[in-house]
Amino acid sequence: MTTTTREQAGKSKDVIKKDGKTFFEFTDRITAFDGMKKDEYPDKGEVCCRLSTYWFEILEKEGIPTHFRAFVPPNVMEVEYLEIIPVEVIWRNFVAGSLLKRYESGEKPLVGIEPRLGARIPEGICEFTTKFEATDRLIDEQEVLDNRWLTREELDMIKESTRRVNNVMSAHLLEKGIILADFKIEFGKNLAGKILLADEVGTPDGCRFWDAGSYDEGRIESLDKDVYRYEKGDLSDAYATIMRRICG
Ligand code: TMP
Ligand code: ASP
Repeated sequence: MTTTTREQAGKSKDVIKKDGKTFFEFTDRITAFDGMKKDEYPDKGEVCCRLSTYWFEILEKEGIPTHFRAFVPPNVMEVEYLEIIPVEVIWRNFVAGSLLKRYESGEKPLVGIEPRLGARIPEGICEFTTKFEATDRLIDEQEVLDNRWLTREELDMIKESTRRVNNVMSAHLLEKGIILADFKIEFGKNLAGKILLADEVGTPDGCRFWDAGSYDEGRIESLDKDVYRYEKGDLSDAYATIMRRICG
């Protein structure tokens, strides 16, 4: 007998379990600001699934282990079942989003980083937020360790993996005239206890992509979910454009 179950995973994907296999269905749902803003856009799921597939294949070749198993066109991916680590990992190359908000709300600027939208963060920074709280809360490494979400060794390994994901994606994107301003990734543990890159990667939902030509002229042209967050244009158009520019 075969059984199929479906449940919502995060805000934009469904997890389907069928015949002992696990699949992610990338839906057209989109949310922002912890669910305050919610909509659906045609083809959005397909764009994020195709882009995640594109990057998972590149990252695997670069020796970064991921949960990706197979692309099931147009918007489904077979993945290895993982227990998700309850921490979101954010890498920032440029000042934007919640980092800028922290500055604007009077928080002391981070050392060596200019508190201005688009300012470059010289060595990049790795930050952590909670995953399973109502709002994503910035946490420090000590809280991750105190909650026993990761050991020191696992935390260092995840930071190193995140740095490598950034190096691989940033270099690829620059060749295509795109700046990777920041991104969020997640990790999980498989049944053997090995930590793998999980969720989705390199999509306009989880990254800030800026057109490099515009940046050089002093303008920020978003090719990502900021188009939706800040109502800068049509999301389906922006997502189709970024997919074409990345995957050809
Ligand atoms: P932030 O500036 O809002 O903290 O976001 C940093 C990056 O992480 C940005 O590329 C968007 C991405 N991100 C997610 O994908 N999911 C989230 O829940 C959050 C808070 C950020
Ligand atoms: N992903 C988060 C949410 O849906 C935050 C964001 O992307 O703005 O609220």
